[in-house]
Amino acid sequence: MPLNESYPAYLANKAISPNFDLSVEDKFRQTEATKVPLASAEIMQKAIASAAEAAKPMAELPSYRRQEVLQYCVKRFEERAEEFAVALCVEAGKPIRDSRGEVTRLIDTFRVAAEEATRMLGEVMPLDISARATGYRGMWKRVPIGPCAFITPFNFPLNLVAHKVAPALAVGCPFVLKPASKTPVGALLIGEILAETDLPAGAFSILPANREAADLLVTDDRLKKLSFTGSQDVGWKLRARASKKKVTLELGGNAACIVDEGTNLEDAVDRIIFGAFYQSGQSCVSVQRILIHKSLYEKAVALLCEKISQLKTGDPQKEDTFVGPIISAQDAERISDWIASATAAGGKVLAGGQRDGIMVSPTLLADVPKNEPVCAKEVFGPVAVVSSFETFDDALAEANDTDFGLQVGIFTRDIQKVMKAWDTMEVGGVIIGDVPSWRVDHMPYGGVKESGIGREGVRFAMQDMSEIRNLVIRSVPD
Ligand code: SIN
Repeated sequence: MPLNESYPAYLANKAISPNFDLSVEDKFRQTEATKVPLASAEIMQKAIASAAEAAKPMAELPSYRRQEVLQYCVKRFEERAEEFAVALCVEAGKPIRDSRGEVTRLIDTFRVAAEEATRMLGEVMPLDISARATGYRGMWKRVPIGPCAFITPFNFPLNLVAHKVAPALAVGCPFVLKPASKTPVGALLIGEILAETDLPAGAFSILPANREAADLLVTDDRLKKLSFTGSQDVGWKLRARASKKKVTLELGGNAACIVDEGTNLEDAVDRIIFGAFYQSGQSCVSVQRILIHKSLYEKAVALLCEKISQLKTGDPQKEDTFVGPIISAQDAERISDWIASATAAGGKVLAGGQRDGIMVSPTLLADVPKNEPVCAKEVFGPVAVVSSFETFDDALAEANDTDFGLQVGIFTRDIQKVMKAWDTMEVGGVIIGDVPSWRVDHMPYGGVKESGIGREGVRFAMQDMSEIRNLVIRSVPD
């Protein structure tokens, strides 16, 4: 099932093709797969103006109608699931099994948003906390924040778009979305289905855009919220320029995975292999730092190396491929430079370590100084660094010793250690009995420190896309 020759963009709910200036590559074959429009600043201005006009009708849309739109999307995604998976596989180089997995997550995210659309609850609040407030009652509800700007990354072209679009629709916020230039097709396929609905005019625009046009999403004050998922370098700069907007940033990480004594090692290693190397490590919660209790270290390293050597790499369209290409030659080169830097600094390559064009082999390193980029920065590639620890407290301190804080994975059976980790880890999520890479789409997800601000996960994004409007009622004498 090849991709279409071209895909339109969406301006104020309508397909537009002012040009086809953005060529989208098949990431494995490195040939043009399709073409999509690239919006100019003028088009982006129109999109923002339309979103501003749609704010009122969107806010007035009853919750059952918002739910119907989301349910319709779920139905259409299910009908077109394989087509979406193939598009994802081609444009992102994501192995077909992972691509299909992402389509099921897209469906989950919209399904949960459909459920949540009718649960925008408020609260009745007694206000008579002192004599001066006697006779006053209060209650609050949530109202949509208004037009939102969304910027999404290349690594989950469907589901990380869904994490912004579905909550916005559930709440009643119009939006303008700029998908990643390397992988715009997923968002445009979602746009195609939204265009089949009867959302109020201007409710959504999905526009691959040049830098000047995209910048308007950050600076235009008609947009009340900016939600960005991508690199921390870009994210924090955008926030500094976002003026009065509320900002959510879902940024990177160098996630740690701790394997404590008494762990079922076979199981932990299987999960680590998945967490470190699925979709070539191009996930913000990919396992990058593996910390193993000294009693298990040698056996764990041997098992890791054995399982790495069995991973199938290559064409993402083949059913048994586990590790596909890196998103670009430039990124593949950066990753192999970081491996070379780690080995020059004394690190040892235990497995992998090679690059062939856009393919980087799944790589395990040891004895790497902590300030090396493969430890201290976000690799966003199939590279993990293993080390050993003596006490669980040492492991927690080591895992926390980073600028990032998205999720941590911990294999332990000790409930006291679980509680200690939950209390002390500087992260957005502690995953026990699994890798930090584990995520289901309704749970709160996001980071602290350099990893971002705010939370996604449908209900939490809905809170971010709405504001509390309070009502105070004084009992007036007859
Ligand atoms: C991310 O890479 O930011 C998201 C990871 C996920 O949704 O699984």
